[in-house]
Amino acid sequence: MPTRVDDDLIILTKRLLDCITAGDWETYQTLCDASLSAFEPEARGHLVEGMAFHRFYFELERPKRAPQTSMLAPHVRYLGDDVAVVSYIRLIQHCDHDDGRPRTACFEETRVWHRQAGEWKHVHFHRSGS
Ligand code: GLY
Repeated sequence: MPTRVDDDLIILTKRLLDCITAGDWETYQTLCDASLSAFEPEARGHLVEGMAFHRFYFELERPKRAPQTSMLAPHVRYLGDDVAVVSYIRLIQHCDHDDGRPRTACFEETRVWHRQAGEWKHVHFHRSGS
C-alpha cells in the first residue's frame, strides 16, 4: 500500500520530469546530485556521469507547443531509509518537428533517489525506449 513518503517521491519525480519538459535547468540542478549517473538512449549505451551531458538538452530551443509528460504506474522501492528507487512508464506527447503532427513517445524509466542531509537528491537513472 502506498505511503505518504511514496507519494512524496512520486511527486518529486514528476517535478523532475516536468522541469525536463520545461527546460528548467535551475530546478533540474537543484533536484540532482552533481555526480548523477545515467543510461539513456541519447548516450548510445554508455553510462554518463555528471551534469554536463544533460545540460546540452536544456539549452536547445524550446518547441512552440510545449510537450506534455505523463508518469504512469509509478512503483517505489526503498533500500533502507535514505535510498529509494522509483520506476514507471513515461509518456511524452509532442508535436513532430517536421510535420507538426502530434506524436507520443514511450519510455521505461528507473530513477534512484538518495536522501542527503535530509533532502532527496536524484543520483542515477536508466531510461529505455520502446
Ligand atoms: N535526460 C535527463 C533526464 O532524463 O533526467
